[in-house]
Amino acid sequence: MTDKKALIETRFSQDQLRRIERLVSLGSIISGVVHELNNPNTLVMLNAPNLKDMLQAAIGELEQNGIDGINGCGVGEFKAEAKVLADDLVAGSEKIKNIVKGLKNYACDEKAVESEEFSVNDCVTSAVNLAWNKLKNKSDKFSMDLDADLPNISGHSGSLEQVVLALLINACDAMCDRRKSITVSSAYDKAGKRAIIRVKDQGCGMDGKALKMAGNLLYTTKSDSGAIGLGLYVAKDIVKSMGGVIEIESVPGEGTTVAVKLPVE
Ligand SMILES: Nc1ncnc2c1ncn2[C@@H]1O[C@H](COP(=O)(O)OP(=O)(O)OP(=O)(O)O)[C@@H](O)[C@H]1O
Ligand SMILES: [Mg+2]
Repeated sequence: MTDKKALIETRFSQDQLRRIERLVSLGSIISGVVHELNNPNTLVMLNAPNLKDMLQAAIGELEQNGIDGINGCGVGEFKAEAKVLADDLVAGSEKIKNIVKGLKNYACDEKAVESEEFSVNDCVTSAVNLAWNKLKNKSDKFSMDLDADLPNISGHSGSLEQVVLALLINACDAMCDRRKSITVSSAYDKAGKRAIIRVKDQGCGMDGKALKMAGNLLYTTKSDSGAIGLGLYVAKDIVKSMGGVIEIESVPGEGTTVAVKLPVE
């Protein structure tokens, strides 16, 4: 047995290795899936507004010709309903577009792209789009409060998206009462020249040991649900490579706030 293999086998259980392999495979096929989704969705985005205009024009003609009902429904009501349906189509495909964009960015190998200037707020929004299903199932009080004056920062937006997503997922995992809140915010600390992202939850919180250990490689209190203990470890590493830090405050039974502090040029 090679040293590497022995090390891997002492650190990870067979279940964890299978899970990691499943996620790695998922990552490698995701850009293809995203591409396949993008094409039909672009068609919906382009055609839905045209369809809406055509429907409205056709209904207008009917009205002018004195036809006052379609399928047992008054023309006015039909016109209003058709507008709502067409607007829903446009809004739905816009949502798909944003999720696809976030996934594409997320799946992009950091080594394959140049460091770039990007908007922290866009990055937070993309991560929220990706986690949206989980967030809405875990809390009725999710809110986002982004500082519009936050300057762009340099680096790989996909990596920061990965950090925020890991924090959002942890926040969701900590929730046991959907009446409690999860908040994500961004702020510009002008004096300290830092961008700050905060993910705050009113979940279970962490005891002293968890607070001390969180972020250590493979530390997890959620192994029963398949967690591995990589989220905060990787998040801390990414943020460190961007010249920043992650700070955690937590009170058992009350909740946790994780702050990501990044330098702004
Ligand atoms: N928002 C939070 N509220 C309560 N506990 C948290 C929170 N975030 C992290 N923790 C604690 O820190 C531990 C480590 O978190 P981390 O994200 O590194 O790993 P994980 O979530 O357990 O597993 P993985 O992220 O690999 O799926 C968690 O198991 C949990 O005990
Ligand atoms: Mg985690």
